[in-house]
Amino acid sequence: MSALLELSQVGVAIGKVALLDRISLSVDRRQILGLVGESGSGKSLTAMAALGLLPLIGGRVTEGCVRFDGQDMAAMTDGQRRALRGRRIGFVTQNPMTALDPVQRIGEQVDVVSRLHLGLSRSAASARTLDLLTQLRIPEAAAVADAFPHQLSGGMKQRIVIAMALAGEPDLIIADEPTTALDVTVQAQIIQILGRLVRDRGLALLLITHDMGVVAQVCDRVAVLYAGRLAEEGPVGPIFAAPAHPYTAALIGCIPQEGMARGSLRGIPGAVPSALAFPPGCRFHPRCPRATDLCRATVPPLLARGEGRAACHHPGHGAGAVP
Ligand SMILES: Nc1ncnc2c1ncn2[C@@H]1O[C@H](COP(=O)(O)OP(=O)(O)O)[C@@H](O)[C@H]1O
Ligand code: SF4
Ligand SMILES: [Mg+2]
Repeated sequence: MSALLELSQVGVAIGKVALLDRISLSVDRRQILGLVGESGSGKSLTAMAALGLLPLIGGRVTEGCVRFDGQDMAAMTDGQRRALRGRRIGFVTQNPMTALDPVQRIGEQVDVVSRLHLGLSRSAASARTLDLLTQLRIPEAAAVADAFPHQLSGGMKQRIVIAMALAGEPDLIIADEPTTALDVTVQAQIIQILGRLVRDRGLALLLITHDMGVVAQVCDRVAVLYAGRLAEEGPVGPIFAAPAHPYTAALIGCIPQEGMARGSLRGIPGAVPSALAFPPGCRFHPRCPRATDLCRATVPPLLARGEGRAACHHPGHGAGAVP
C-alpha cells in the first residue's frame, strides 16, 4: 500500500528557473517526517508542491508526481485540491499572523474551518473549537476564543493556527517551521503538542525545520535537502548515529550541546548557492571537506546507504568525520 503523502521524483520550477530536482519522499499515518536543510534549500517549495499551492507563487511541478492517499494531485480539479487542503491536509505556517485575520475573533476563525469542511452548525462548531483549544492545553479557552489575535502571545497564536489546521480533522499536517518565531521554551511545548497529536490521533506529520535538534527530538524519519536536491533520507536513529552524507553530518554537528557556551555553535562555512548559480556535479562540493574531482564533475546518484538513501560519492564515516 502506498504512503499517505508521496512525492516521486518531483521537479519544481518558477518561470525558467529549476528549483527542485527529483525530490522523492513519503510520510505515512502515525509518522513524523522531518524535512530539514538550511534556509534556501527548498523546504517551503516542497511543502507548496505537496499542498498543490505552487501556482500561487507562479511555480509548477515540471516532472514526477505528488500523490495523496494514492491519488495523483495533478489529475485533480482546482476544487478537489482546495477541498483536500483543510479537510484532509492541515497547514501550519511559520508566521501565525499570516494565517490569522487580525480583525476577527479567534473562536470565529477556528469555527469557520469545521463549518466549511465538516458542515457543522454554528453552535456545534463553537463547541468543537473550545474542545480543540482545551486539547491544545490553552488555558481559559472560552476567553481566548473571544479574543483578537493581537491580544495573544506568539506561542498562543501558533497554537490557534494548529487548532485551525486540526479543525477539519485532517489526516496529514504540514508544518513549515512552526516554531522558528518562538522562544525556546514555547518551541519545545509546540513540538510536544504536535508529537502528541501524531500519537493520539494517528496523524501523519511533515515537520519542516532547519533545526536537527527538533528532528532528533520528535521525528521518526528525516529527509535532508540541500540546494533543491535530496542529500539523505531515512530513519532518524541510524542516520544520527552514522550519517552517510557530509551535509547531514554537518547539520548534526550544529546542534548545540548541553553545557556548550552560547556562540560556540559550529556553523557550516559558506552558504546555500542560489538557484541561478548551482555548482556542477554535487551542489555541496564548494563547502564539502571530502570533495574530489569526481564530486566537482558528476552528480552523485541517490543510492541505498545503511537503512536509508544518500546522494554522495564518498559516503559515511560516522558523525564525527566532518570538521
Ligand atoms: N516565489 C519565488 N520566486 C523565485 N524564487 C523562489 C521563490 N520562492 C523560493 N524561491 C527560491 O527557491 C529556493 C528555495 O526556497 P524555499 O523553498 O523557500 O527554501 P527554504 O524553505 O528551505 O528556506 C531559494 O533559492 C529561493 O530563492
Ligand atoms: S558527493 Fe563529494 S562533494 Fe558531494 S557531499 Fe559527497 S563527498 Fe562531498
Ligand atoms: Mg521556508
